[in-house]
Amino acid sequence: MTEHVLGSEVPELQLTGVSRRYGDNLAVRSIDAAIPAHKISVIVGPSGCGKSTLLRMISGLDTPTDGEVRFEGAPVRGVPEGLAMVFQDYSRSLYPWMRVDKNVAFPIRRLPAAERAERVRFAIEEVGLKGKESLYPWQMSGGMQQRVAIARALASHPRLLLMDEPFASVDAQTRADLEDLVMRIQAELGITVLVVTHDIDESVYLADRIFVLSTPPSVVAEVIDVDLPRPRDHVSTKTEPEFVRIRGHVTSLLRRPDADAEGAHGSLVASTAAGEIA
Ligand SMILES: Nc1ncnc2c1ncn2[C@@H]1O[C@H](COP(=O)(O)OP(=O)(O)O)[C@@H](O)[C@H]1O
Ligand SMILES: [Mg+2]
Repeated sequence: MTEHVLGSEVPELQLTGVSRRYGDNLAVRSIDAAIPAHKISVIVGPSGCGKSTLLRMISGLDTPTDGEVRFEGAPVRGVPEGLAMVFQDYSRSLYPWMRVDKNVAFPIRRLPAAERAERVRFAIEEVGLKGKESLYPWQMSGGMQQRVAIARALASHPRLLLMDEPFASVDAQTRADLEDLVMRIQAELGITVLVVTHDIDESVYLADRIFVLSTPPSVVAEVIDVDLPRPRDHVSTKTEPEFVRIRGHVTSLLRRPDADAEGAHGSLVASTAAGEIA
């Protein structure tokens, strides 16, 4: 795989020996990762391998039982300023009784009214929901609701945007559109994006850098830098030989029995034609 280092800057996010134990269950085992600034990084791994646990520790919502997370050089203790998160379950992250613009404004409600209004206007336009400000979430499709959740994250002007399986609950076409939306926003705003997914295709399509997690207790099995040109699109990018090669490689990594797991058979990860892993 390509081994070069992306950029020369200090990583936006540095994970050193990060572990998380729940009682006897070691969910995440000694994760080392350098997430580069102003790029899209993707953590890919099977369900239950500790992806959400990792994101919670990165966002300061949870604390590692071992190791350390640093954001912009400083140890993470509590939710850092400059970080925003988008969850898979948009229906639970939006307030159904609030209009779109009020939902987007909620996290920045303490800002002066004029600045708040300008940020909300910009964020809603950025996600393509101009004209939908007065709708309520329940009047919108799942994809549109997830756009609202992304706008809400953008309104806080994050330098680091974390996304936990953000498109796992929408149909394939909507998912493709949202993937393109995230790449366009990242390119326009230059923010650092870290996406967690169990979808191999999505990981290769989005990423500048992929962290492939093993089956639990999870470690980083491999770090892959993806040099596919940008802007990317679903038709030409996904038929490039390099895309196909990396996708095949990630698939093989996720299928490999974990030497540490009890019983090789149980740790095999099934893969479908769509690149999803069960
Ligand atoms: N709050 C918790 N208490 C106990 N175990 C947990 C908790 N959160 C996650 N786990 C366990 O940690 C492991 C990883 O879970 P999770 O991070 O949700 O995986 P993923 O997001 O990759 O599907 C699982 O075995 C899960 O049962
Ligand atoms: Mg999860």
